[in-house]
Order: sequence, then C-alpha cells, then structure tokens
Amino acid sequence: MEGKREEQLNRGLLEFIQDSPSVFHVIDNLKKRLEKAGFAERREQDSWELQPGGSYYVIRNGSSLIAFRLPEAAGPGKERPFRGYHIAAAHSDSPTFKVKALPETVAEKQYVRLNVEKYGGMILSTWLDRPLSVAGRVAVREPEGGVGTRLVNLDRDLLVIPNLAVHMNRDINSGYAYNPQADMLPLMGLWQEPQEESASQSPQGMLLREIARELGICPEDILDGDLYLYVREKGRLLGREGEFILSPRLDDLQCVYAGLEGFVSAIPGQYANVLAVFDNEEVGSGTRQGADSTFLEDVLLRIQSSLGYGPSMYRQLVADSFLISADNAHAVHPAHPEKADPTNRPVLGGGIVIKYHGGQKYTSDAVSAAWMKLWCQRAGVPYQTFANRSDMAGGSTLGNISTSHVSLASVDIGLPQLAMHSAVETGCSRATAYAVSALQQFWQE
Ligand code: CO
Repeated sequence: MEGKREEQLNRGLLEFIQDSPSVFHVIDNLKKRLEKAGFAERREQDSWELQPGGSYYVIRNGSSLIAFRLPEAAGPGKERPFRGYHIAAAHSDSPTFKVKALPETVAEKQYVRLNVEKYGGMILSTWLDRPLSVAGRVAVREPEGGVGTRLVNLDRDLLVIPNLAVHMNRDINSGYAYNPQADMLPLMGLWQEPQEESASQSPQGMLLREIARELGICPEDILDGDLYLYVREKGRLLGREGEFILSPRLDDLQCVYAGLEGFVSAIPGQYANVLAVFDNEEVGSGTRQGADSTFLEDVLLRIQSSLGYGPSMYRQLVADSFLISADNAHAVHPAHPEKADPTNRPVLGGGIVIKYHGGQKYTSDAVSAAWMKLWCQRAGVPYQTFANRSDMAGGSTLGNISTSHVSLASVDIGLPQLAMHSAVETGCSRATAYAVSALQQFWQE
C-alpha cells in the first residue's frame, strides 16, 4: 500500500518536473492543480473578499505563488480569526542559463549559437553534450494595446553545448575551468550566408522566429522575453529497487511538489495554512517576487484585514505562526564522505533532513526543530540531521531571508540528494512521500 502511494507520488513528481521547464511553467502548473482542488485566485491589484473555510492563491510576476486555506471556524466576529499561520516555503527556480537579448551569434560563418549567461550557480560541465531547449515567457503586443505575456516551451531537441574533443584539450580530465562566455553557448543550427541580404534570412532573430511560429504570432509582436535553457531528458527512477530519482530541477521542485500535494490534501485545524513558492532563490532572493520581498507579508496582512481585523491582529497571529522552509539538502556523497560533517550525516533514504547552522543561515533552533520532529513522529516519517563541516561555508536558503520580513518561528528542512546544482540531480524516491506526510501533518494541526 505504502509502495503504491510512493509510486504514484513519484510519477506525479516526474510529470510535474517534465511539464515545468521554466519557473513560469512551475507556477502555471501549481495554479492548474490548485484550481482543480477548488482554490480561487486573488489578484494583488484587486480588493479581496475571503470566506472562512475558503481556499485561495496569489501569483506575483508569474513566477512566485502563495496559496492559503482558511479554517472553517475562521473569524469574523471572533476575538481572533484563527490561531496563526502554518506556512511551508520552497523555491520555484533552479540554476540554468538565461538567454540574452539579441542572442544569435555566428561562428565560422555558419554555426549559429545563442548568447546566454548563468542564472545561479550550476555545475557548468553537466550542461554539456546533452539535448537542451528553451522555455520561459515572452511579452507580446496585445491587439487592444498594452503588453501581455505568453508561456513558451520549444518542446523539441533544439540545442547542444558541445565539449571540446579530448584530443584538443588533453588536460581536461585533470580539471578544466569552463568559461561561461567562451565555452557555454549552445549551438542552435547551421546558417548559410545568402546571396542577397534579406532580413528573414538573417541569423539575427532566428530564435524569436522559432518562438513566434510556436505561438502562432508575428515575430514583430514579441517585444521581449524571459527565456531560459532547460535539460530535455526526462526524470526517472533508478537503482536496483528504484530507490533513487535522477532528474533535472529536483532542487527544489521535489519540495514544491511534495508541498503542493501535502497542502491540497490537508484540512486546516486551528491555523490558516499557507504554501509559499518563491522565485529567485538561486540568485539571492532579492527581487520583488523573491523570499526577500514583501510578498509573504503583504498576503498575510491582507488575509486578516479582509476578514475585518486590525493591524495589531497581524502581529498576534504572526507571533503564533510557524514556517517550514523546505529546500533540498546534501546527502553524504559515497565518493567523498570526508566532505560531510563528522556526526550529522544525512543519507539518501534516511528521511527528512533537518538543517542546522551556527551562523543562522538555517533558522532551526531547539524549539522549532523539536516541533518538526514531533510532526515527523506523528506522521510516521523518519528524520535525520544536517550541519556543515565547521571548516566549510555551505549554502543558504529561504528561511532566514523570509523571516527577516515576517518574523516567526521557523525550521529549515530538505530532502536528501546528491549532485546539487548538476543539470541532472540524484535524489531519494522515498523522500517525496515522507515530505508529503510530514507537511500534511503540520497543516492539519
Ligand atoms: Co534549493
């Protein structure tokens, strides 16, 4: 029975990742799933009417989303609308390459490549020699004037970043410093210089014309785009018993998907439930839709004011609230056990990872981690602990950035994985169900 549920969840996860080649697709797929579960959209520019027991979601910039579900017994007319907020947060973005404006560049008068730049800190070499394509959004001229947006996914094998042959770089296996400008531009096609100069034959605008054809619109109506490369290979289960997941964007879509599934299936108890999925974690969160923005605070403030409560109620509710910041965690690597902390050594398959950091890059403290352990125990889910080696810096995540805007009790967790920020990462297939169960428990308290 448990095996069946695990299998279904992982199939759902892999489909979700496959259908989400860019952040904009991640949010669009969350929206579709939430709509199906009866959630209604509230736009930030409108005034809000909210009902007790109601389920809603808000999108900012098409790349971040906050969904919330109010308890049946929520105010108005009571001393306080509910006890507080139970929030889980994860991030929608993954390291990739952003396509620059005027992307086409020609080499040897025939190779057409796209000029791209790094988005986040990926392992560069993992993006070479594999099928890639382009997805994101374009901003288009609307017939009635103004600017609209369209999602775009060139859903075919379109690009490759070829390595240099070993014969021309004999030292490549001793380590090679890839230069993002020189080495990482993907090849899109061959071009022949026309006899007569004509705009439609120019390599300039080649990508735009592909996108226009895909969307069935005129290239001139595309005014701009936020376009990114993505890995074409499908995610899959792998290992003797399918115990691993090999997939692009596991960090952090495994947490996003598990959060979504736990969220839609949980009936709120005394707390209003919130799922926050933020963009731009991989580049420091400092955008208007990132964790370092007012997005979460704005939504929470509007929830209680829409129910008819004053500003001091916001602080009362936040004081009784809890945030689980969910972002994948490093499992001990079999070839490099020395890189892990001597005693806090998460493994693939070992359960949800609770992360600690003396310098507070992770928000977990004794009390918040104790609550997380309780919820895991109540859900029958194992957990393990992570700390960086004391001589290593480690990464950062959403929790402490988010709590600098909305200061509430918080714990940092993740699902164990290897090869973080590789184009294709290795995770734990059992962990998806663990995260769904633990978060569901949290949201039903
Ligand atoms: Co992450």
